[in-house]
Amino acid sequence: MNLKQIIANSIHEVVTELPVDIIQNLIEKPKYSHHGDFSFPTFEIAKRKKIAPPLLASQLSERISSPWIERCEAVGPYVNFFFHKQKVQQQIVQTVLEQQTNYGDLTIGNGENIVLDLSSPNIAKPFSMGHLRSTVIGNSLANILEKCNFNTVRINYLGDWGTQFGKLIAAYLKWGEQEKVEKNPIPELLKLYVRFHQEAEKDTDGLVEEGRAWFKKLEDGDEEALSLWRWFREESLLEFQRIYDLLGVSFDSYNGEAFYNDKMEAVVNLLQHKQLLSFSDGAQIVELEEEPSLPPCLIKKSDGATLYATRDLAAAFYRKEKYQFAKTLYIVGQEQTVHFQQVKAVVKKMGESWYNDMHHIPFGLLLKDGKKLSTRKGEIILLENVIQEAIQLAQNNIAAKNPSLPNKEKVAKQVGVGSIIFQDLKNFRLNSIEFSLEDMLKFEGETGPYVQYTFARACSILRKASFSEELVSHGLQDTFSWELSKLLYEFPEVIERAYIGFDPSVVAKYIIDVCQSFNSWYGHEKILNEDHSKKSRLALVYATTVVIEESLRLLGMEAPTEM
Ligand code: ARG
Repeated sequence: MNLKQIIANSIHEVVTELPVDIIQNLIEKPKYSHHGDFSFPTFEIAKRKKIAPPLLASQLSERISSPWIERCEAVGPYVNFFFHKQKVQQQIVQTVLEQQTNYGDLTIGNGENIVLDLSSPNIAKPFSMGHLRSTVIGNSLANILEKCNFNTVRINYLGDWGTQFGKLIAAYLKWGEQEKVEKNPIPELLKLYVRFHQEAEKDTDGLVEEGRAWFKKLEDGDEEALSLWRWFREESLLEFQRIYDLLGVSFDSYNGEAFYNDKMEAVVNLLQHKQLLSFSDGAQIVELEEEPSLPPCLIKKSDGATLYATRDLAAAFYRKEKYQFAKTLYIVGQEQTVHFQQVKAVVKKMGESWYNDMHHIPFGLLLKDGKKLSTRKGEIILLENVIQEAIQLAQNNIAAKNPSLPNKEKVAKQVGVGSIIFQDLKNFRLNSIEFSLEDMLKFEGETGPYVQYTFARACSILRKASFSEELVSHGLQDTFSWELSKLLYEFPEVIERAYIGFDPSVVAKYIIDVCQSFNSWYGHEKILNEDHSKKSRLALVYATTVVIEESLRLLGMEAPTEM
């Protein structure tokens, strides 16, 4: 059932000046629900009929008739429509009950592949807030794309190659201790890296040169260099894995920058063959003069070393070939915007039409006390500790509010982790967000725990009523359940909007609205009252749990049934 279509058809039966689909596109949702469920501006048709819009509105309001529409009102040039609540409500709830978790599934994707480049932390460095954002946003986008019938490939493009590993190896060989690194890998490696930079600043004994030489060895496949690099990589991955387990995120591939080490030459050759390379101070670059805002893309340094962009080019070609993607998304902070514009511009210059399917999905900063944190200066918060702290706070909350809850630890983890994810996803991704554990763990306001708590409350009502899923709805008439039902009806449109904007916050904001609407209804109606509408109320409660749980799943969160 499509509510706008019902209205458009009923209008079209009276005035045939415009095709139904155009009428449908003109239909608006009024700001206030007492102005109707939908509203139709008559200007377009009035112009064609050469009559005044208010006159047409009043004629329409008198002549429109549909079994689904209870009444129409002309207000100035608008016709406001009020649906037959009980009938429509019944249909909406039945649809959700029938489709269950498939409710909201879309067919837009046609089973095509979308590659997502997400998370992508740098080895031997702490997992940063930026990587957390990439992980959480990317994972949710992938879930949303799957709901739209795309096939997704989640790639963790580890930052496991580059000149910094030469520096790290040099630093380790100078000052490092195996035992210390084994005990506490990332903080110890980070210390070495920071020390390298401090000492290099007052460089007396050619430290920078040494670092460069070690990277060269690494690139040339020197066994000592390689085995240290492998060790750093493995230790780092073990630490990252603990974070991914906490967040409940997994990947289809961990092919990072190093994987493209032997795949860059082919791309460089291709660039040469297409005569796109030019020399600048001994370095090889691709001029991007047709995009005036873009600096040239550096492909090889004067010493022959490849760069971040070179690897991204190789990766793009490899992925196109391997996955035949319809789109490829890079979920990376906005500070890398120019880089992705350059890579895309080079692919375009190479004559590949799929440059258009490359999308950088940027996001803003995650701040702590209003400040960005810099790993260079060694200011780190270990993300894993932060997540553990959120879980601990959730646990304290449960101990205070509901000490007899079964599975306390599991629920604390679901709530603690969920609070971090929701805090991130509820804002449009380009906004910077402030990381405050205290705020994100609140049970009121726009938080993860609020949504989860509303879900648990709805589940508890169903438990009390020994609700069975075969129940049917006969429809309800009160305004609160009507507002809630209309929101449930919007779910498929919400998914579509989230997809179009690559924007999980659309789902997060929506689910806050659903929870608020559910709670208002719950505050006004005795859901378990023994009267002839009890079954229909329970059906609505159940339909609401379906939509909340599915929305949380799309955001990458769990939905505890008790908390
Ligand atoms: N490792 C990079 C960083 O931490 C992010 C990689 C993003 N993906 C890419 N294809 N460049 O900055």
